[in-house]
Amino acid sequence: MEREDAAKRIAQLSDELERHNHLYYVAAKPVISDRDFDLLMKELETLETQWPQLASPNSPTQRVGGDLTKNFETVPHRWPMLSLSNSYSREEVEEFVQRIVKENGKTLFTLELKYDGVAISLSYQNGELVRGLTRGDGEKGDDITANVRTVRSIPLRLRGNPPAELEARGEILMGRKEFEKLNKQREEEGEELFANPRNTTAGTLKLQDPKTVAKRGLQNFIYTLQSDALPTRSHYGNILQCQAWGFRTPDPAKRFIEQSDSLDGIMAFIAYWDKARNELDIAIDGVVIKVDNIDLQEELGLRAKSPRWAIAYKFQAEQKFTRLNGVEFNVGRTGAITPVALLEPVELAGTTVKRASIHNADQIAKLDLHISDFVQVEKGGEIIPKITAVDLDRRTEGAVPVTYPEHCPACGTALVRDEGEAQHYCPNEHGCPPQITRRMEHFTSRRAMDIGGLGGETIETLFQAGLAKNVADLYDITKDQLLALGKGWGERSAGLVIDGIQASKAIPFERVLFALGIRHVGETVAKKLARAVGSMDKLAAMPLEELTAVDEVGAVIAESVREFFSVEGNRETVERLRNAGLQMAVEAGEDKVVGTKLTGLSFVVSGVFVNFTRDSIKEAIENNGGKVGSSISKKTSYVVAGADMGPAKRAKAEELGVPVIAEDELQAMIDA
Ligand code: IVH
Repeated sequence: MEREDAAKRIAQLSDELERHNHLYYVAAKPVISDRDFDLLMKELETLETQWPQLASPNSPTQRVGGDLTKNFETVPHRWPMLSLSNSYSREEVEEFVQRIVKENGKTLFTLELKYDGVAISLSYQNGELVRGLTRGDGEKGDDITANVRTVRSIPLRLRGNPPAELEARGEILMGRKEFEKLNKQREEEGEELFANPRNTTAGTLKLQDPKTVAKRGLQNFIYTLQSDALPTRSHYGNILQCQAWGFRTPDPAKRFIEQSDSLDGIMAFIAYWDKARNELDIAIDGVVIKVDNIDLQEELGLRAKSPRWAIAYKFQAEQKFTRLNGVEFNVGRTGAITPVALLEPVELAGTTVKRASIHNADQIAKLDLHISDFVQVEKGGEIIPKITAVDLDRRTEGAVPVTYPEHCPACGTALVRDEGEAQHYCPNEHGCPPQITRRMEHFTSRRAMDIGGLGGETIETLFQAGLAKNVADLYDITKDQLLALGKGWGERSAGLVIDGIQASKAIPFERVLFALGIRHVGETVAKKLARAVGSMDKLAAMPLEELTAVDEVGAVIAESVREFFSVEGNRETVERLRNAGLQMAVEAGEDKVVGTKLTGLSFVVSGVFVNFTRDSIKEAIENNGGKVGSSISKKTSYVVAGADMGPAKRAKAEELGVPVIAEDELQAMIDA
């Protein structure tokens, strides 16, 4: 393909992909299948690999995240980022409305939901996204453009005719469903859970790896526009214009005309959303009331940190006092200890609350919790309620302080706490019953070995009966042993479990690897590792440097894998699983391609490399969809040259016009 044709096709594909992206993430009305979308994306990716000079930083391919950000540059805001003054009652809202109506008569107000996320300022030049800044101190913020590009509801290019320079401001959020999914995944991977969607969003936006950000399903709403050439003199009108440019905007936004004696419309809107917010996927913490007329906004002006023309009404976070009956210290699959408050049941935001999370030892100390205390439980942005205060006046004499155990409540082993970590761990990995049974539960779970009929309770029974002290023991269990357990076990139920265990022997290697429960090796990482490495034997023997060369595998994961295989008990378990007949390698013919960055390209490698062996460089090319040939021809896309490449080869490449690249350039193409 000629350069000109490539440029045309790239522009066409980019427009098409952004249109579908908007239909999916903003309008929520997709018109093509995910598969068709992926095919278009692949075509664009391939073209951009072939024509790197034609790839724009705002290409839809950048939605999956580009290079690592070393550090976030601090950049001044062109217009300061203000906050809002808060109100909590009808009287305060009335005071605000009255003040304005008194001077201006009947006034138009716009009401919007107040999103409980992280504020963002997006700069566009000639319709192209050029920068995303956090609020920072209001005067200057951090440049998080690379991360912002991965948020699908943020348009990379605006439609229509926007002014040459504009700043769109709004909120970035994570939906509840996405948050729960993420926490579930973290639980499976043995990582500490995130507390709430807002903090998770803030943390995510500060990650240095945009690829991880891209996977977190962040959302965006735009609620203010700054420009020297605003499209209209109405706030609401500008929001509609933002919508037409492709932004997602507050839904609903409503306008009310208020005069001195009518506040009911505003209060009804507030009352409605105070209730209805429990059903929204995203968190809102109030309603914002804004003067709609921008001339009037300018007349009213600003206070130090907030405008005089707007006010936030904040919903009361639901909280109640109840008695703390006790504290339970739970042991997870990885040995992490989580304290849980056991409460006298209380109704809160539509549900009965019996338990609340207490994050760690520091939290217990900070609250100075005593058993039988009356504690305030609050259900704010959190999914699980938390304890926010203690009513000291109601503490009874002789109440016993909650002490954090020094020993594992399950097995008695002394707990450890790594430097800088908030959580305590029980290090008795192989002897601590709940760690063993939870690992077994993980092993048999649907996404791992999928052994139906072997849930938490059954595993507990098998463990107690001495039939399964290790995941490998499952494969030695007989039907008669199950029947001999007596109560609840019959021909049918025992048969099902035995069949499930048998069937699990056909589960592919990547899921066996996931099932082992190696810390930090979740489903995705297991898949990548399995496909890149090929077998359990190779993985067990693989040095750290080679592990970290695998896509998505960083130092932490690599070390965790090494540590797993350094424990004799683990190696033994793996051996027993192998003897039982589990899949320990990628099946021949199973698709080993893990990336498509090099699809359609053919390479010749020559010389000695620093970060690769000859085999591993070939493997890296093939794993990313490229082909490796032995001699340079007109069809060769690139020659990858190491040290000592022969002069004859170099001359041949030159003669045929085949570009010669170094190994880091190849790596950059793979990482692109
Ligand atoms: S307008 C000059 N509208 O709330 C006024 N802010 O507590 C700029 N927020 O910093 C803000 N939803 O991060 C506005 N519909 C909305 C909002 C909203 C959420 C956030 C925003 C602001 C904070 C103030």
